[in-house]
Amino acid sequence: MGKRITFHDHKPKTLSLQQAVIEGFSKERKSIPPKFFYDERGSALFAAICDQPEYYPPDVEQAMLTRLAQEIADLTGTGRVIFEPGAGSTAKIRLLLEALRPLAYVPMDISCEFLKQAAADLVDEFPWLPVHATCVDFTHSLPIPETAPPGRRLAFFPGSSIGNFSPQAACEFLTLVHQQIGPDGLLLIGVDTKKDPDILHAAYNDAAGVTAAFNLNLLHRIRNETDVECNPENFDHQAFYNPEQGRIEMHLVSRCRQTLRLNGYRFELAEGETVHTENSYKYTPQEFLAQASRAGLREVRHWVAEQDLFALYLLAGA
Ligand code: TRP
Repeated sequence: MGKRITFHDHKPKTLSLQQAVIEGFSKERKSIPPKFFYDERGSALFAAICDQPEYYPPDVEQAMLTRLAQEIADLTGTGRVIFEPGAGSTAKIRLLLEALRPLAYVPMDISCEFLKQAAADLVDEFPWLPVHATCVDFTHSLPIPETAPPGRRLAFFPGSSIGNFSPQAACEFLTLVHQQIGPDGLLLIGVDTKKDPDILHAAYNDAAGVTAAFNLNLLHRIRNETDVECNPENFDHQAFYNPEQGRIEMHLVSRCRQTLRLNGYRFELAEGETVHTENSYKYTPQEFLAQASRAGLREVRHWVAEQDLFALYLLAGA
């Protein structure tokens, strides 16, 4: 058998964590870009979030993918080249592989070592599948490696990761995906729905505190990887639904008045002041399909889970 796994490093030399902290903490409303969540520990914590009972999206989406695999395959056909931005543990694509029988699979993730391990595990489990693992910040580009075969493409973007973009950035990202799939390409995307705020609140405030640990991991990274001196114990996790914006907001709340120092900079935080770390926008099917059409993507079909908990969309490039 030939080479079943290739690895491609497009890890950007863009914004460093330190640079991001300087920029984000200089703003009127302090923030840190969410991609810094995903170091090795952050990726492992995120996998643990997905096992928390309150965090319903993975279970609901995986049940949908399992139930719909053949129906999806009937619409997409087999033998496509599948790429998945932010593939993480690759748990979800596994549910579709037997039905979709892709020509090749291109998992893309910013967390290189995590990606390498996930790709190695995947080829062990699916020996027939060529895997072209690509380490990249998918918010910048979606490079399909030259080692991947030509063929009709299918982009796979589960987990409501689209909700972590602002609506404007989501439109730009969907446009980029559209370019990468081309006119005979498809996008299968999982998007969380608007629902009872209590359900949303619980999902981002799990009782075991894993989401809190994930959010606070940013501060451990800042302490370990930058010249900023900060004590993670001086912050709390906060997540709440903002109904006007239709999004969950995640923040780190300063427990006291404190000053963070970095070279010549001083960043003052008042007690209760927050650092905004993530948004998770929720879309009704109508809202999401309108968003997709702004990126030139046309609905093939969509499916909504029981109690409208989650939605899957199959969209076409032309
Ligand atoms: N796409 C996921 C979501 O918005 C990402 C996510 C889940 C997340 N829980 C989180 C991101 C906690 C940051 C912190 O639901």
